[in-house]
Formats: sequence, C-alpha cells, structure tokens
Amino acid sequence: MPALTAALASGARVGAAGSSAWRLPHVGLRFSAMSVGLGRGVLVFKPIDLDAHGHVCIAFRRDTFMSSFGWDGFFARDGDNGENYLKRLRAHSSRFPDGNVHAWDDGEIVGQLEMRVLDDPCRGHVSLFYLTEPVRGSGAGGDLQRYAMRFMRSQGVGTAQLNVSPTNARALSYYRKHGWKDCGLRPGRDDVHLLEHSLTAAAPL
Ligand SMILES: CC(C)(COP(=O)(O)OP(=O)(O)OC[C@H]1O[C@@H](n2cnc3c(N)ncnc32)[C@H](O)[C@@H]1OP(=O)(O)O)[C@@H](O)C(=O)NCCC(=O)NCCS
Repeated sequence: MPALTAALASGARVGAAGSSAWRLPHVGLRFSAMSVGLGRGVLVFKPIDLDAHGHVCIAFRRDTFMSSFGWDGFFARDGDNGENYLKRLRAHSSRFPDGNVHAWDDGEIVGQLEMRVLDDPCRGHVSLFYLTEPVRGSGAGGDLQRYAMRFMRSQGVGTAQLNVSPTNARALSYYRKHGWKDCGLRPGRDDVHLLEHSLTAAAPL
C-alpha cells in the first residue's frame, strides 16, 4: 500500500483493485476544456512505470534541461541513452513510489513529479515538476503543487527544496506564485538557485 494512503485518506482511490492511482479530492483539480483543450476532467497521479514509460521520462527530462539552460545538454550529463538518470530514478522510485509519479489525463501522460526525502528526514527534495507543453498555463500546475505538498506532508517533511535555473523564467514565476522562496544561488553551484517551501507555515491543503 503506498505511503500516501493515510495522508490522502480523504481522497478517492480510483482504478482497479490494488492499483496505486489517486485522484486529489477537491474540485480545484478539475480544469476546463476551454482552458487547455483537453477537458476530460481530473489529473490522476500514478507511480511511474519505468519499464513502460522510461522513454517518456527521458523526453520530459531532456525538455526540462532545454527549458532550464537553453541548450540540449541532457544526454551529455546523463549518458548516451539517459542511463545514469534512469538508474537514479529507479532507485528513488523504489523508495518513494508515491513521490515519483506521472500525471495522467484520460489515458495520456501529461506531467511528471520526482520527489524524495533527504538524509535529513525533515527535508524533501523535488527534482522535477513537469507538464507537457499543451497543458502548461491550464491550471494543472496547481494540481502538481498540491500533490507535491501532500506527498511532503505525508512523509513528515518540514521544508521542501528544489533547484531551478535563474534563466527558466516561467518556472521561477510558477514557483513564486505557489509560495516557494528563492534563497539565491545554491551553495557550491553557479547555475541554479535553491528554492524552499515551508510545510509548517503553509495552509493545509
Ligand atoms: C514549470 C511548469 C510545471 C509550470 O507549469 P505552468 O502550467 O507552465 O505554470 P503556470 O502557467 O501556472 O505559471 C507560470 C507563470 O509564469 C508566467 N510566464 C509564462 N511565460 C513566462 C516567461 N517567459 N517569463 C516569465 N513568466 C512567464 C505565466 O504567465 C504564469 O504566471 P501567471 O499564472 O501569474 O500568469 C511548466 O511550465 C513546465 O513543465 N515547464 C517545463 C519543465 C520545467 O522547466 N520544469 C521546472 C524545472 S525546475
């Protein structure tokens, strides 16, 4: 049973018996046909099936690298076939299946979250917030944020953190809008800022 079960007790479990698909429970998770051209209802979060969708994860990561740094450098860092990334993701997914999820809309993968708890168990790290291009600007980003905060709370995390490139203007606006605090350059790095979100100070979701 996924660890998020207890924390999301107020949500409705969906899918076949034994599956790990979750709908977040409130109406705010519905987004309209008008706004995104999808209109099929509710984002459903499921643990990533790496055997089936590893190639999707790589495509999303590669796109994120380009959004972040403005050039196509994912494979230079993560191996010719992204194998270094997939190895990391497999390890994180096996420890935190509810933290490494695809967001589905009516049978289509439209987003991805990668999260884990750090050695300091009060701190959680988000390594990826991602939406496919047609879904951006639809309000679905709010669903990702809500899911992320619920996951962190379910793990007892007090402060969530992430890295973002200062040249990724859209992501920076998105994070600021959702209450992430920009702590400036991450110590030891000159290409990313450290952002933090306090779970204790945040209003319950
Ligand atoms: C980051 C991401 C999940 C945010 O989701 P989203 O649906 O695009 O976010 P939103 O539209 O809700 O918020 C983005 C905000 O930036 C604004 N924005 C859009 N383009 C912008 C730009 N070029 N510069 C600055 N702000 C911009 C939007 O207007 C919006 O603000 P508003 O709601 O006040 O109008 C999504 O853009 C994404 O997947 N990007 C690619 C992957 C990525 O870069 N991930 C982050 C890695 S750290």
